[in-house]
Amino acid sequence: MRKKIVAGNWKMNKTPKQAVELVNSLKDKINTSAVDVVVCPTFVCLQAVLEAVKGTNIAVGAQNMYFEENGAYTGEISPEMLTSMGVKYVIIGHSERRQYFAETNETVNKKTLKAIEHKLIPIVCVGESLAEREQGITIDLVRLQTKIALKDVNKEDAKNVVIAYEPIWAIGTGKTATNEQAEEVCKAIRDVVSEIYDVETGDAVRVQYGGSVNAGNANALFNMGNIDGGLVGGASLKEEFASIVNY
Ligand code: PGA
Repeated sequence: MRKKIVAGNWKMNKTPKQAVELVNSLKDKINTSAVDVVVCPTFVCLQAVLEAVKGTNIAVGAQNMYFEENGAYTGEISPEMLTSMGVKYVIIGHSERRQYFAETNETVNKKTLKAIEHKLIPIVCVGESLAEREQGITIDLVRLQTKIALKDVNKEDAKNVVIAYEPIWAIGTGKTATNEQAEEVCKAIRDVVSEIYDVETGDAVRVQYGGSVNAGNANALFNMGNIDGGLVGGASLKEEFASIVNY
């Protein structure tokens, strides 16, 4: 039985003080331990949020990292910097990073491998644009993104990877994929993992849905057979996130 995982992607929002206020308000309202809960603030808020979640079952993730160990990479953050602080998860290849910061399937693969090497759990994002959906290539595209992300990842490590299916047209638009659309693609992702490794690995990997998840639609989405929780943007900046976790 896969444990559900709900992660909040705070994107470029909140000062350290505001981040602590938010996480403190969530702590009192999250009333389940049946779900893995992750919050992903900006790098500059990590320390404060890590302090604030001590003693709770809220884990902390970063929104990105670089695939080198250290060196002349101005502005980048290494995996060791994250693990040394107590960060457990890292979002990799979010569509906004692919779109605005030139991330590719290949850099996503390098980062995924590097995160695993450092025992960070990668939340790898895949998903199609509206044009790609209209061209009927969603499944092919998401299969390809998944395959390249997992290239050279061994079977045992693959089981711990979280894959977030996020249709780009549903992110921040208020337009959620239907339960059936989300389920279809999440199942295709699981199937491709089973093809690369085996059914046991496909069954183990957790596949989230992301894109305008809110307190009203979370329950139905998370109850689909192949959807193991959500990656939540806008609604994770509010107390509503606790209701999504408690779905
Ligand atoms: P959204 O963002 O929930 O605001 O649509 C989701 C995401 O980008 O992870």
